[in-house]
Amino acid sequence: MEKIVIKGGRALHGRVEVSGMKNAAVGVILSTILIDGVTVLENLPAISDVTLSLQILSSMGAVVEQIDPTTYQIDTRNVKPGTAPLEMVRKMRASYYVIGAELGRFHQSKVGCPGGCDFGIRPIDQHIKCFEALGAAVHVTKHYVEAQAPDGIRGDQIYFDSVSVGATMNGIIAAALADGTTVIENAAREPHVVDLANFLNTCGARITGAGTDVIKIKGVKRLHGCTYAIIPDMIEAATYMIAAAATGGTLEICNVIPKHLESVSAKLEEMGVQIEELDDSVIVAPADRLRRVNIKTLPYPGFPTDVHPQMSVLLCLANGISHVSEGVWDNRFRYVEELRRMGADIEVNGKVATITGCEKLSCAKVRAVDLRAGAAMIIAALAAEGKTEIDDIYHIQRGYDNIVGKLEKVGADIRMVTIPDE
Ligand code: EPU
Repeated sequence: MEKIVIKGGRALHGRVEVSGMKNAAVGVILSTILIDGVTVLENLPAISDVTLSLQILSSMGAVVEQIDPTTYQIDTRNVKPGTAPLEMVRKMRASYYVIGAELGRFHQSKVGCPGGCDFGIRPIDQHIKCFEALGAAVHVTKHYVEAQAPDGIRGDQIYFDSVSVGATMNGIIAAALADGTTVIENAAREPHVVDLANFLNTCGARITGAGTDVIKIKGVKRLHGCTYAIIPDMIEAATYMIAAAATGGTLEICNVIPKHLESVSAKLEEMGVQIEELDDSVIVAPADRLRRVNIKTLPYPGFPTDVHPQMSVLLCLANGISHVSEGVWDNRFRYVEELRRMGADIEVNGKVATITGCEKLSCAKVRAVDLRAGAAMIIAALAAEGKTEIDDIYHIQRGYDNIVGKLEKVGADIRMVTIPDE
């Protein structure tokens, strides 16, 4: 078991390099099941969700080879459907992409029910609705999702009842090799949806409209391999922007697409934080006094739900009372109890948190209850006086590439400690 120990109170200064985006990487990696060829993926983040995605592919018969720390070659010519190990797919939400990819290429799929962070109920009804529209019969048992399309995958019109990143990406994956044209309406517009479409188009797919709420996929007969670099992780970038603001430091966050960060930059500026956008970096400089703001999380281009816990930490340090309203997940407030241990004054009522700012947070022993909650604990610890210990950091390792090393390089007193298993 490992934990992170932070002695807080130091302002961060310097440059942080942002890695490839987790939620694009896992989708792109698992979509290679569609490909009858060899793919080289660059700018993959060194995180456990990527390792797990690659292990799932290997278990299915793919040949995966690491070329350098961020580049992998994946030969998916001989993958077999229905072979993704249950214990692996259960560890990760994104394993639902295996269903879309198996259906697309083999017209049949059997995959364990996906796992992931606990935000209350996480249905996959929109994914299933999409597979059924494309001609599959889908059957969900206690542990597995099984789907068969004996007559093949046929293009159709799909209207999602709610905006879902995963269902949109799965729809694109399942329809890429379909017979005919698929139109997805009320599609998610996140940058990772665009990245997946760009990747598949480089492999020969014919997808248009990604980044808008109507996506058109003209099915092709076969996808070939290619070399493709994953886009930078906007959530990782936002996490470092907030860490800079919370510690009163100045950071240049490098290797980013500033446009993807606009909703976060706008809120930080509203709080008094200074933001300078360059071509592929943003510079964050301190506010004289952090001002209160209200936030509502929404699908892209709204304020990202995956930045909600980190932003709540900053609001704990702001002058006055702020409200954070969660517009995507039913329950994303499990971090609140941990933050309260550090002296935060937060009340949750339904899907709204009311945060009363304070001068300083204090150190404590806390847990990373999920991935972004863990990132929030790190930010809180960096800003707090004294030594904070964060347990259950495997959640953080699922999505942050070398967060300890990156923060240490910009002046944080942070280390990873291995505790012998009992
Ligand atoms: N929803 C349904 N039915 C579905 C699918 C989703 O009702 O079939 C609902 C969900 O319950 C939720 C909302 O729609 O209320 C949005 O869910 P979405 O499908 O967009 O989420 P996801 O695809 O499961 C991805 C990210 C999450 C991120 C959300 C929202 C991956 C692997 N995960 O999840 O990332 O919070 O989109 O942007 O891409 C994270 O990185 O920390 C993380 C949790």
